[in-house]
Amino acid sequence: IRAAAGSYSDELVSTAKSVASPGRGILAIDESNATCGKRLSSIGLDNTEANRQAYRQLLLTTASLGEYISGAILFEETLYQSTTDVKEAAWGLARYAAIAQDNGLVPIVEPEILLDGDHGIETTLEVAEKVWSEVFFYLAQNNVLFEGILLKPSMVTPGAEHKEKASPEAIAKHTLTMLRRRVPPAVPGIMFLSGGQSEVEATLNLNAMNQSPNPWHVSFSYARALQNSVLKTWQGRPENVEAAQKALLVRAKANSLAQLGRYTG
Ligand code: 13P
Repeated sequence: IRAAAGSYSDELVSTAKSVASPGRGILAIDESNATCGKRLSSIGLDNTEANRQAYRQLLLTTASLGEYISGAILFEETLYQSTTDVKEAAWGLARYAAIAQDNGLVPIVEPEILLDGDHGIETTLEVAEKVWSEVFFYLAQNNVLFEGILLKPSMVTPGAEHKEKASPEAIAKHTLTMLRRRVPPAVPGIMFLSGGQSEVEATLNLNAMNQSPNPWHVSFSYARALQNSVLKTWQGRPENVEAAQKALLVRAKANSLAQLGRYTG
């Protein structure tokens, strides 16, 4: 296989496959200090390094988490991209992917599509198709090895201020339509972000997407939809750590079942 990945090809393919393995997804805890501060302030805690560390330690020391979680995103260059300059952003993403592979790392490719607005689901579908066609055009131009990348898309939903919510079935249908039209089956894993959905919505939507076989492993890379209850339960108190870790396992297991299409609520 001729790709930018060069001598790392086999390792990249096996790493990507192990992250995208049945019943497992990613725990995203790559919040910037500012975002982490927002989460902590929601439970009345100061944004100190000690509090951030205590919180991340709670998450990462949860026993048996590995049954449901195959990777954690600790740091990531978050790209804030405007839709008016999508081409430059897509080129930048593709360069990042090629450089990561050249160094033996599986890149997580995440173009940001803002969810604000009162537009309907069809508009989101149109925009997402446009964004992903550009991303894949430039990934190919940069000889990125598709078998050695993971995607982190947002689901195709109506805009956040749209008058009606879409059902999990409608979200699954539109999201899968977009993926089938734009994402080659060589890509091993599609790891969705939760994008402000509630914990249960994020699980139901993922479950709906896994009701029939897909060419890729369709899974999660959730931050908020795995952490909201954990934070609320923890409240920054050492005596709540165990209960908070249980809350994390409940969400992780629910999403694991959703990855297998077996979540029943
Ligand atoms: P959310 O699941 O909270 O949208 O965050 C995912 C993410 O992009 C963090 O890496």
